Order: sequence, then C-alpha cells, then structure tokens
Amino acid sequence: MVLKTVEWKNNKVVMIDQTKLPNELVFVEFDDFNQVADAIKNLVVRGAPAIGVSGAFGLALAVLQSDAETKQDLISYLENARKILFETRPTAINLGWGLNKIMDVAKHCNSIQEIKESVIAEAKKMAEDDIEINKTMGKNGSVLFDNNDTIMTHCNAGALATVAYGTALGVIRATKESGKQVKVIATETRPIQQGSRLTAFELQHDGFDVSLIPDTAVGYSMANGLVNKVVVGADRIVKTGHVFNKIGTYQVATMAKQHGIPFYVAAPLSTIDLKSKADEVIIEMRKGSEVTGIGDKKTAPDDVNVINPAFDMTPPELITGIITEKGVVSSPYEESIQKLFDENN
Ligand code: MRU
Repeated sequence: MVLKTVEWKNNKVVMIDQTKLPNELVFVEFDDFNQVADAIKNLVVRGAPAIGVSGAFGLALAVLQSDAETKQDLISYLENARKILFETRPTAINLGWGLNKIMDVAKHCNSIQEIKESVIAEAKKMAEDDIEINKTMGKNGSVLFDNNDTIMTHCNAGALATVAYGTALGVIRATKESGKQVKVIATETRPIQQGSRLTAFELQHDGFDVSLIPDTAVGYSMANGLVNKVVVGADRIVKTGHVFNKIGTYQVATMAKQHGIPFYVAAPLSTIDLKSKADEVIIEMRKGSEVTGIGDKKTAPDDVNVINPAFDMTPPELITGIITEKGVVSSPYEESIQKLFDENN
C-alpha cells in the first residue's frame, strides 16, 4: 500500500506529521481549517505540491465548518479561510494556486449545497491529479538519466512533498521503474534537514541505494566524480526560468555548472508563475532557532544574530532542463515555458 502524505478521509484531513520523521510515522487528523493552516506553517506538511493540496483540503473543511445560510455568507467565510491559509507560507506558488482553484469552483456554484459538494470533490480531484501528474513527469524525466547514474538531489521533492510519488524523486523512481540502476546522493539540507530526515528516509524505505552527505560535501562529491546528474524540485518558477527552491539549491547548481554536471529541475505546471518577476518573489525568512540548534541541542551561542532564508533563486543559465508533466523544456526558457501553456490550451 502506498502511503499518502495528505488525504481526505471521512470529512477530515489526514496527514503524515513530517516533523516526527524519521523516528516515528505518525498521522494527524484535522477537522478545522485553522489546524491545517498551523500544520502548513509548522511544517507538519511541507513541499510545494503537498501544501497546495493541503490548502485546498483546508477550504473543504471550511465549507463544512461554516453555518452560513446564504451563498454570499459562505463565500465570505471561505475568503477569510483562504486568507488565513494563504498567509502561512509565501514562497511556493502551489499554495495560492490550490486555494484560488477552489475559490473559483465555489464562486461558480449556485447554492450552499452545490458549493459543499463541488469544493470537496475538486479538492479530492486535485489530490488524485497530483499523483498522476507526478507519474507523467517522472516518465518524461526518466529518459534524461542513464543506467548506473548517481543522481544528487537536495531537500525533499519526494512523495512526502506531494500527495505521493514525488517530483524530483518521482523522476528518480520512474528511471528505476524503467529498468535502469541508479544511485542517489541526498544532501542533508540544513537547517531543518529535509534531506536526511525525509529524502534519506523515503528512499531507504522504498529500497533505493541512497547515500547521505552533509551540504558542505557537495563540492567534494562533484569534484571527485561521485555524481553524474542533479535533479531537484521547485517552489516557484517564473517565466524567465528563474527557479526558487530550498535554500542551498543555488550552491548545488553553481557547483554542478563548475563541474559540467547536468542540473535538472522537476516541477508541475502549477509551480510555474507566469505573472511575477524574479525580484518580486518573496523568500520566506524563518526563525533563528532552526539554525542555532539541531533538534533540542543548542549549537550556537545565546543571542547570536541569525539570517535564515528558507529558499534561494537559481538563475536559468545554471539549469540544463525543467521537467514537467507536459515535457522537458530548456533554454531559452521564456519561449519554452510559454509554449507549455500555449499547448495546454
Ligand atoms: O520548506 P519546505 O520543506 O517546504 O521546502 C520544500 C522544497 O524546497 C522542495 O524542494 C519543493 O517544495 C519542491 S517539492 C516537490
């Protein structure tokens, strides 16, 4: 049985509590959209596609929580819930994408009953579609990888960052499913270790040959021929091909360029933001305690100043290709990304 990161069950949202991994596999259950908002903020659920679907499920809970008697009152209630859910994390565009899609569905309904049924159905469909999109993306990307490749990945863009299967790790899964032998190098991904806690856990659990390295060993691994290719996920890609992803991605991409190693990004179309310019994207700044300690252990002096950006921007000239469910695109990105959407219409 394949575990789902986030799921709608008996009118509740059920998710894996990712803050407890890899030590415990715990499921949490919510019946209030405020709990879902807290879960997104506190990284109980994280990863761009997973928070997009969680936001949508949050609105589905809001529909059930509301005691509005008119359509207009219910839409106002949902607008407020949308705002609370949206304000949890600023960088991944999938969150706003998922929330807006649900709001559109709600606004086009004619009655309270229709809103209830349609919103829940749409959120459930979004979750199912996410898995299919990841599988298609995986197949599209798998042709770029060869037998015996060792693939580096950063952060967690796996099943745990989506509903199931994963984006970057979905590509690695599909490569293996196509009969090629591959090894994976996972970076630890400080400060909160999505690489060691989640990627190493997920890949080991699923029988992959995975080695964990500290983030500081990226250069060593590339300089010493331990890596053939890199694939990472994304939280937002703007139309010029600038990719926003977990802090440290830019360093990995720069190092890959230095060593002539192909650097791929795997992301669904819902991660592409055609409206914002690169310098308009908000980089989430997180609390200093994530840097001044590891778990409960303090690793820095009291009251030291901390700068803790959660994401960085990788410019298009460092990116060999962007893998999507509609195909793989490469430079010049402004043209190739736009084509993905034209063909989509
Ligand atoms: O802070 P996180 O853990 O939500 O950051 C996640 C990432 O940066 C992932 O690489 C990204 O969301 C792609 S997930 C398919």
